[in-house]
Amino acid sequence: MNLILLGPPGAGKGTQAKRLAGMGLPQISTGDILRAAIREGTELGKKAKPLMEAGQLVPDDLVVGIVEHRLRAPDCSRGFVLDGFPRTIPQADALSVALASSGRKIDRVISLEVPDQEIVDRMAGRRSCPSDGSVFHVLQSPPKKEGVCDVCGTPLIQRSDDEPQTVQKRLTAYGQQTAPLKEYYEKEGILYRVNGLASTDQVFADILKLIGP
Ligand code: AP5
Repeated sequence: MNLILLGPPGAGKGTQAKRLAGMGLPQISTGDILRAAIREGTELGKKAKPLMEAGQLVPDDLVVGIVEHRLRAPDCSRGFVLDGFPRTIPQADALSVALASSGRKIDRVISLEVPDQEIVDRMAGRRSCPSDGSVFHVLQSPPKKEGVCDVCGTPLIQRSDDEPQTVQKRLTAYGQQTAPLKEYYEKEGILYRVNGLASTDQVFADILKLIGP
């Protein structure tokens, strides 16, 4: 099963992708890959940092190259879940070409539907593990010990792009550049909408229903 999780910032893509990864579908998160590049101080990280901090998208050619490379890894041969990619129509076109070259295609695109006001609240309460990418929320899904990752014990951080002003810019970028992908995949007959306001367990159950046994 080759899946895309689509949705605005904070819709729960990372939360659900991690649960799917636990079932053996590797998670490919361009946001996590870019944040790792920033931490490591690579050329990619240096180019991405100011754009991400400003709530803008990183240029297509940079992210497409990353994803094409990742999709060639052996663990993706039996399926994968894309989290945060594609985010523009050129990215979606490039993905389709890359997959076709190895006889693959996207099977389902799951759109997590969440209104803007809920997004702002979620971002304010999100805490992330800089080491393993685990995601928590101070009210909805707090870590067992305050401020510390349940999985690896690393102190949790608040992402620099989760400030309300930057969240607003990310929502604008989503509306202008990413939301048109819903129509793109609807035309292909592979778009499925899920109520992202439901509990994380319910959202996961709804996704499982859509991807089958
Ligand atoms: P990226 O890291 O992909 O951020 P995003 O898409 O904005 O999404 P988020 O990670 O903020 O949210 P999410 O949907 O994963 O929600 P989460 O599960 O964490 O990208 C960051 C930046 O990198 C971009 O702005 C851009 O600059 C760049 N970039 C990345 N990919 C790119 C690309 N392809 N092209 C160009 N640039 C790119 O959940 C959020 C919070 O809500 C958490 O606290 C969680 O606990 C809580 N929560 C989750 N589900 C629920 C629920 N059902 N109910 C209640 N709370 C919930």
